[in-house]
Amino acid sequence: MKCRICHTEIQSFMSFGKMPIANGFLNEDEYENEYFFELKPAFCKECFTFQIEEQPDPEQMFHENYAFFSRTSRFMQQHFKAYADWVRKHHLQGDDLFVVEIGSNDGIMLEHFANHGIRHLGVEPSANVAKEARKHGVNTMVRFFGSETADEIVAEYGQANALLAANVMCHIPDLNGIAKGAEHLLKKDGVLIFEDPYLGSMIEKVSYDQIYDEHVFIFSALSVANIFAPYGFELIDLLPQKTHGGSMRYVLSRRGERSISSAVLKIVAAEKKAGLELPKTYERFRENCAASKERLVRLLTKEKEAGRRVVGYGATSKSTTILNYCDIGPELIEFISDTTPIKQGKYSPGMHIPVKSYAAFMEDYPDTALLFAWNHQKEIMEKEDAFGAQGGQWMMHLSKKL
Ligand code: SAH
Ligand code: TYD
Repeated sequence: MKCRICHTEIQSFMSFGKMPIANGFLNEDEYENEYFFELKPAFCKECFTFQIEEQPDPEQMFHENYAFFSRTSRFMQQHFKAYADWVRKHHLQGDDLFVVEIGSNDGIMLEHFANHGIRHLGVEPSANVAKEARKHGVNTMVRFFGSETADEIVAEYGQANALLAANVMCHIPDLNGIAKGAEHLLKKDGVLIFEDPYLGSMIEKVSYDQIYDEHVFIFSALSVANIFAPYGFELIDLLPQKTHGGSMRYVLSRRGERSISSAVLKIVAAEKKAGLELPKTYERFRENCAASKERLVRLLTKEKEAGRRVVGYGATSKSTTILNYCDIGPELIEFISDTTPIKQGKYSPGMHIPVKSYAAFMEDYPDTALLFAWNHQKEIMEKEDAFGAQGGQWMMHLSKKL
């Protein structure tokens, strides 16, 4: 395949096998038409971008029944308020400010600009979550962002001071189109700020469940610098985040427009030290994934043999990769509990484990809870004292302690 960024010929270094749509929770009568593709990550030696070889059509994933609502996590609500406050403090000065967010979902971040009377626009293709955003006073356009959308926005609203995003850049296969859109949309001194799950954290924790259909890319500072450089942007700041199991906030401006923080040099040096630009790092990652799979299946089989009930906690997109790669179905996991109403009563993609309400977990505690929403570990542990107190055990697919 050709690298999606620099078009160099690249080879995938492993396969997670046949995968369904990670957020494709479904009813029994939909099993027959369930969509599968082969999940194969690849690494480009030229621009250092980690990517997946095949991605299903984005319209299969982002539509009026999109299952992910950002507001389901209290911690993420706090995070996005802090993100918005930080942007206002450090990157938005002057009058007539205009902020655009790509993938604004239910308005979890933009509402904190709306509340301050700042002109804003969310660009969000999933109509159901966009509707929720509007309920919160967030001006939202139901559309995929790209260079044409950027031109339409400039024609209607003028150029923007900041183009923001969270957990969406890594979803967009045509990143060159996004970079071009940013080039058109931003004022001369405007900033492009986004955060996404971080490659350095994924390699370190062997959190291979970050890889699924929606995540076409897992970024590092090295790759982000290369992706945006042809469009005249440079990295001016980097801020590691705890969200999604280890993320990075990237801040870019037009070359020479802003001073560069010392964090950029420091983090790029740390990435080189961790070998993020070397193919052998990914060979080792493949071996670590295989060892992680073997361990999880062994632990679950032991639970079953001991007659212990195991329930999944959080029907995350990430769990779709774990369950399908490890071939774990309802024979090992009785059900998955999740607080999102649209997922409840359905079955998990590919392996068809029932998804039930949070009440189903609370009312009949299992012996062991397999924490799929491990990125929300702190929030979950704070509220699940009672489960542990009556003897409940937690399990994770990660072997490293968080
Ligand atoms: N920013 C939110 C939502 C992340 S989920 C958060 O961090 O919680 C990714 C969102 O991006 C989804 O709501 C999806 O519909 C949207 N999306 C996917 N592709 C997009 C594109 N090309 N342009 C704009 N939004 C997109
Ligand atoms: P998320 O962290 O966004 O993961 P992904 O991006 O992999 O989908 O999703 C968290 C899921 O876990 C979401 O479906 C809601 C659910 N959840 C619970 O069921 N209980 C909780 O306490 C929390 C925090 C999340």
